[in-house]
Amino acid sequence: MSIQFDPKNSVFNLHTKDSSYQMQLDPLGHLLHLYYGRKLGDGSNFHLFPAADHGFSPDYYATQNERGVCSPDVLPQEYPAANRGDFRVTAARVNNAQGACGAEFFYKTHTIQDGPYTLEGLPAAFGPDCQTLCILMQDSVLGLEVRLLYSVYEELGIITRAAVLCNLSDAALTLDQAASACLDLPFGEWDLIQFHGRHAMERQFERTRLGSDIRRVGSLRGASSHHHNPFVILCEPEATEDWGSCYGVMPVYSGNHCTDIEVDYNGSTRLVTGIHPDNFRWHLAPGEQFTTPQVLLCYTHEGLGDLSHRYHRFIRSALCRSTASQSSRVLINNWEATYFNFDQDKIYDIAQKAASLGVELMVLDDGWFGKRDSDTTGLGDWYVNTDKLKGGLAPLIDRIHGLGMQFGIWIEPEMVSIDSDLYRAHPDWALTLPGRDPIMGRSQLVLDMSREDVVDYLTDCFTRLLSENQIEYIKWDMNRNMADVYSHALPPERQGEVSHRYILGVYKLIDRLTSRFPQVLFEGCAGGGGRFDAGMLAYMPQIWCSDNTDAIERLSIQYGTSFGYPISAVGSHVSACPNHQTGRTVPLGTRGVVAMAGTFGYELDLNKLTRKEISQVRMQIARYKSYSELIRTGDYYRLNDPAQTRFWHGWEFVAADGSQALMNLVVVHTQGNPRPLHFQWKGLDPKATYKILRVDLQGQLLASVTDPAARRMVGLKYTGAQLMYAGLTMPQLYGDYPSAQILIRKMR
Ligand code: GLA
Repeated sequence: MSIQFDPKNSVFNLHTKDSSYQMQLDPLGHLLHLYYGRKLGDGSNFHLFPAADHGFSPDYYATQNERGVCSPDVLPQEYPAANRGDFRVTAARVNNAQGACGAEFFYKTHTIQDGPYTLEGLPAAFGPDCQTLCILMQDSVLGLEVRLLYSVYEELGIITRAAVLCNLSDAALTLDQAASACLDLPFGEWDLIQFHGRHAMERQFERTRLGSDIRRVGSLRGASSHHHNPFVILCEPEATEDWGSCYGVMPVYSGNHCTDIEVDYNGSTRLVTGIHPDNFRWHLAPGEQFTTPQVLLCYTHEGLGDLSHRYHRFIRSALCRSTASQSSRVLINNWEATYFNFDQDKIYDIAQKAASLGVELMVLDDGWFGKRDSDTTGLGDWYVNTDKLKGGLAPLIDRIHGLGMQFGIWIEPEMVSIDSDLYRAHPDWALTLPGRDPIMGRSQLVLDMSREDVVDYLTDCFTRLLSENQIEYIKWDMNRNMADVYSHALPPERQGEVSHRYILGVYKLIDRLTSRFPQVLFEGCAGGGGRFDAGMLAYMPQIWCSDNTDAIERLSIQYGTSFGYPISAVGSHVSACPNHQTGRTVPLGTRGVVAMAGTFGYELDLNKLTRKEISQVRMQIARYKSYSELIRTGDYYRLNDPAQTRFWHGWEFVAADGSQALMNLVVVHTQGNPRPLHFQWKGLDPKATYKILRVDLQGQLLASVTDPAARRMVGLKYTGAQLMYAGLTMPQLYGDYPSAQILIRKMR
């Protein structure tokens, strides 16, 4: 049993394999948070009721004569609400019909059952291997009930949380905030790790010490954003990849999100996570309920690497519901090869060359529909542009299938161009402010996905596209952030609901299409990785990681992404050089090594490569196919931080059954008289013996290394202890960005 209730002490105990989460009801019925961290033994109930100085704060215990002096301002709470004496960041801000803000929730009852909970209209983790606790709390003055939901995945080490608020009164209530969860860490000092960025430079790792203030990681862009990924980590200051206490907080949400972290005057740390409270106001009519997004919590005492492994496994096995996956299919996309300038023959030529080298999926990107010769027109008109594709999609798809390839296509359902038939017919379907000229982004407007009619229209469009054509893959893009957030279909008191209703509409559309076409692989995208989050991953098993395809810049983008999200989800392609985003030239071999830390594909015209490059591509594809299982399902180890190293960056995959491991090394800065590249493996069995099966060097060996050292390494045997503790030294590599892949196998 991973969830127990001790009625004597009113304590809830939630246990995963190696962590414990405890809550307790206080004598008045408030739900206090006692502990989340390394596993406690059975029966380790304890009573935490700090008689701490309550400073200048009010004290509802004293007024009710229940206990000595203890303010809500110092109590760790599971779901605090504003304006009742707790001045820290809060989970709920509720107003009654008179405009009075204030709520206080008291325990009513609870249930424990096997299996997960579901959330109306929102993605949530599934999987039978969990238990769910539902604690029913109520504020009888407001007539507001809150169901706090916890699912405990004992083996996978994840606890999910969400809240459902239900108005049982006969007057409307207004929610100015309804967070998914509050997590109080009464003791300890913590570092905050967050993943910030910008378009074409997403998820940059940043680690800072928390101080006595409030830190906020959030987005008001209508999407989880390139700028502040919703995933955050709190870890002890000494924590490393391999050691130390770490807490992960991963919202399963793709819209405006917010995580506030406050260190209060008692040194206690509070984290509140959920929908961003700014630009949010939910009108809760009598009988209505509001469901918050889910958040995935994870604790480990074994460092950041272990935290990542847990999230990777969890997302793959309990969150991604799609059974379609790119698996070892290698993809080619025409975007950087042609942009908008293509016709059927050009696409076919790219596909034909790719097929001859082992590529199995041809993806036709933007520009195939409506009047779409640039990014200024045509969005919304989801019918084929027959000037470019004579005879429609069918002849092209037939020719691609004739090559033995599958066919994929790009769509951007949530957007509309002003120059489009759709906008001319339905100008009120776009988010625009009455009386103002709309603010354009990439020359397009955002459709009002909070409207049922818009979602139904798009459902029909794409159901038709997928039923009338044999399409095996969809790239779902979203290329601007929201402004002018106003729905022409909602009354004034519901305008604060638009951003969240928008995301509910997006989820509804994706849910319909992915359930109707389960065999189709959907890849998410938002100007690259502007909506790379667990909400999207619940429906789409992979997401285009960044519009930046420069292999060296990708190192830090993919490094940051790897902390929370599995490698199988990271869309990554080999593109042409000089790179279109940075102008840099990186050897083809190294571009391949970097793209293999993801779904692997190409985004260039292979017809333009030299014969030597073509044979390299053939080899890369063969290599990827042989490694793909290991890459997609193995444990991923980061060897160092690309932002901190001036020499080389490395990462490693270890097979789930431990039978093999693949090391990847990229020299990011070639020095004169280079130092030896010495590296230590991770995640091996120290007692087992491993044999080096293959060494691929991409780049040149120093002239002094005349005997190909790589070949010398092949066949050598080492124990796991030698490889992990003493490490190996690579032959000296030089030139522009050389790299290496080394495959080892465990001997029986
Ligand atoms: C976005 C995507 C690109 C490409 C273009 C097409 O920027 O991230 O990969 O699909 O749109 O317009």
